[in-house]
Amino acid sequence: MARTKIKDILLREETGYETTVKGWVRSFRNNQFIALNDGSCMNNLQVVIDLNTDSTLVRMITPGAAVAITGTVLPSQGKGQKVELKASEVTLLGACNPEEYPLQLKNRPSLEYLREIAHLRFRTNTFGAVFRVRHSLAFAIHKFFNDRGFVYLHTPIVTASDAEGAGETFRVTTLPFDHPPRLEDGSVNFEEDFFGRSTNLTVSGQLEAELGAMAFSEVYTFGPTFRAENSNTARHLAEFWMIEPEVAFNDLKDNMDLAEAFIKYLIGYSLEHNREDLEFLAQRLLEEEKQKPQQERSEMGLIEKLEFVLNHQFERITYTEAIEILLQSPAYKKKKFQYDVKWGIDMQSEHERYLVEKHFKKPVIVTNYPAAIKAFYMRQDDDCAPGRETVAAMDILAPGIGEIVGGSQREERLERLEQRMKDMHIPVEEMYWYLDTRRFGTVPHAGFGLGFERIVQFVTGMTNIRDVIPFPRTPKNAAF
Ligand code: 4AD
Ligand code: MG
Repeated sequence: MARTKIKDILLREETGYETTVKGWVRSFRNNQFIALNDGSCMNNLQVVIDLNTDSTLVRMITPGAAVAITGTVLPSQGKGQKVELKASEVTLLGACNPEEYPLQLKNRPSLEYLREIAHLRFRTNTFGAVFRVRHSLAFAIHKFFNDRGFVYLHTPIVTASDAEGAGETFRVTTLPFDHPPRLEDGSVNFEEDFFGRSTNLTVSGQLEAELGAMAFSEVYTFGPTFRAENSNTARHLAEFWMIEPEVAFNDLKDNMDLAEAFIKYLIGYSLEHNREDLEFLAQRLLEEEKQKPQQERSEMGLIEKLEFVLNHQFERITYTEAIEILLQSPAYKKKKFQYDVKWGIDMQSEHERYLVEKHFKKPVIVTNYPAAIKAFYMRQDDDCAPGRETVAAMDILAPGIGEIVGGSQREERLERLEQRMKDMHIPVEEMYWYLDTRRFGTVPHAGFGLGFERIVQFVTGMTNIRDVIPFPRTPKNAAF
């Protein structure tokens, strides 16, 4: 008989029909009641098995075991569910030794422990919910852009450029690392490498997305990006996914409007389509918060927070205003910040979190950062005071996360772009393909990058980024 998904049985709430379900046993009570989960939803289906079922089979029904069950859907006698399945036939598909099954051995395993068994953690309520939400958000991203006529562009994963110029790339090579071919001066001869040049994994698809925007007007990328930054924090991964829209004819304000609409759409989509999972995650977060001292607990629950963000305009301030607020803050005056505050600094996460969590208590878009701390491609602001040169950058800061989006209007003026690249020691000749867009029909344009895991963190309330990607890659860790 065809398999029915547990989600559909629970949603239909109909009774009196025969069907087959397949899934993994979550628990088995009194040799009679199986809580069965197939991952289609948070809730388990209660299966009632006949007391005369073969005792050898009954002994094999243990948490983690895979079973197929045929039976009749009936109104449930017990509390907690409207329908249950009365089994007529139970087949063991895959046994699971309870003495070895990690999820059985540990009662309420911690998130840290579950990270060590990431290959099994999908089977827990928490990770089931997180990864269903992650899926939903990925789908919503494509829907948002598709509905608005954007072209999804696949930008390369192997590249010869470092778009952000931060020097945090992972090298890609087939040269033997113990005896690479060398030039006379002793340096490695990359002409003999696979691509005939030095290559790395991409840190961003932006530069190629800009090429697409100069033909399709609006494009977006959604792919993996890699950064060898040695930051072992709860917000950094060495391999993460990024969404990068790029729009011709947009200026900085259009860019902010698009980013704000996009984030709100994703939140709204998840509230509508992942209600059950979000309610579970909200409860989980509440329990986690109870462990914290009173003053560190957040004032809002997860769902309230999401609804609040959805229904309020993001604050928009310039970098210069942000620095002013920080300088006036009690935190600064009482020397509570670890890092100094003055115009020109690259704001630290303590500063960003002060602005978002203490001062404005909502997402904040900070614009017009000092040119010196931003990438070469950002549009130089006109009429800057000497020593106060800024660019048309925008970062979106979110409560509990910090930077969630980084973007800018791009420098479309060839001479100014070339000059800046020279100043920053970026090889102008090698980047001829990028500069060609400025030679052949250049137009103002803008775009941004949303860190996918950071928005998943924001929506699910998970505090560690390692818990929102199936198999996290971080310094000294590439298990699974
Ligand atoms: O601010 P970033 O570096 O911007 C860019 O890469 C631009 N090329 C984007 C663009 O304009 N098209 O990165 C964008 C976002 C950050 O705001 C953050 O959310 C996320 O990517 N991000 C990371 N997420 C997880 N782990 C890391 N190591 C991340 N680095 C950046
Ligand atoms: Mg950034």
